[in-house]
Parts: sequence; C-alpha cells; structure tokens
Amino acid sequence: MSDVSFVRAVPDDAPTLAHMHAESFGVECWNANQMRGSLILSTTKGWIASIDGVHVGFILCQTVGAESEVLTFCVRPPFRGKGCGKSLLVYAVGNLCPPSDAIYLEVAEDNICAKNLYEKCGFIKNGFRPNYYQRGGSKVNAVLYRYISNN
Ligand SMILES: CC(C)(COP(=O)(O)OP(=O)(O)OC[C@H]1O[C@@H](n2cnc3c(N)ncnc32)[C@H](O)[C@@H]1OP(=O)(O)O)[C@@H](O)C(=O)NCCC(=O)NCCS
Repeated sequence: MSDVSFVRAVPDDAPTLAHMHAESFGVECWNANQMRGSLILSTTKGWIASIDGVHVGFILCQTVGAESEVLTFCVRPPFRGKGCGKSLLVYAVGNLCPPSDAIYLEVAEDNICAKNLYEKCGFIKNGFRPNYYQRGGSKVNAVLYRYISNN
C-alpha cells in the first residue's frame, strides 16, 4: 500500500467529510452543516487521510484540557483493511495538541472491526452503555474505551 498522508481538517472541508461520513454511516451520518459546526470549534481537531491525493478517511477529536474524545472516525469502504484506519488513529493520538493524558471514545458493541482496531491501538474498555444507539427499530449497546497516554 502507498503511504498515507495526513492534513488538518478545516471548516471548508465540511462537505468532503460529510460525503465520506455518509459512505460509512448511511442514515446516521452527519451532514455538512453538522461537520462545519464541529470543525469551527477551537476544541475540535481533525485530520484527513489521503493516499496519492485521494481522500481515504478522516477523524475528528475534541480536546478539553488534558482530555480528548474521538468524536467520529471512518475509512471509506474501498480503502478498508489496508491499515489506513490504524495509521489515522495512531496519527491523531500522537498529534493532539496539547497532548492528552487520556482519550475516550464510544463504539457500538457489534462493531467488531472498530473494537479490534481500538484494542490494537492500546485503548482499554472502561464502560458500557446499554441500548445507547438507536438503529432503525432496535437499540445497540455502546462500549466505552479509554486510552492513557505515556506523555
Ligand atoms: C473501523 C474502521 C475505521 C477501520 O478502518 P480500516 O482502515 O479498515 O482498519 P485497518 O485496516 O487499519 O485495520 C486495523 C485493525 O482493525 C481490525 N479490523 C479491520 N478490519 C477488520 C475486519 N474486517 N474484521 C475484524 N477486525 C478488523 C483489525 O484488528 C486490524 O488490525 P490487523 O489488520 O492487524 O488485524 C473502518 O472499518 C470504518 O470506517 N468503519 C465504519 C465506520 C466506523 O465504524 N467507525 C468507527 C466508529 S466508532
């Protein structure tokens, strides 16, 4: 696989991010206004991953004080399973500024790919929210993860 490069996401990237988000999350995606609303906040930090100039995914994080949260994160379907998600997450964890003492996230319990990825990157399960996500007519539990930095 060619190298993945990363650039900071800015508010003008909102339509691009919304497009990628829709590819990954379908009806649960954020639209461009929601993306822009997040990107204009000084607490939001995001990165777009590209391969040979083609956007392959992005991550948005929120940092408050010494703690961060992964707000959303996706790799476009054709580029999955090639290491892009792992390199994007590792890049974000290493480039949060100021560096975070702890990073939190939540993920649907049935999202095996994402849970494997988070655990591979050093995130540890630290909570559980029953029936947290509404998916059509049913509900899905959330698993909470925490990453403790060695800064
Ligand atoms: C989760 C997601 C970002 C992973 O991106 P990716 O580029 O496919 O991930 P990588 O290729 O870097 O894989 C990293 C690790 O994830 C896990 N993983 C990836 N694909 C997997 C699969 N199909 N089944 C099980 N585990 C998988 C593995 O542990 C893998 O490490 P390994 O290859 O050394 O075994 C991607 O599947 C995605 O965008 N999903 C839809 C959106 C989403 O669920 N976002 C997270 C919401 S919290």
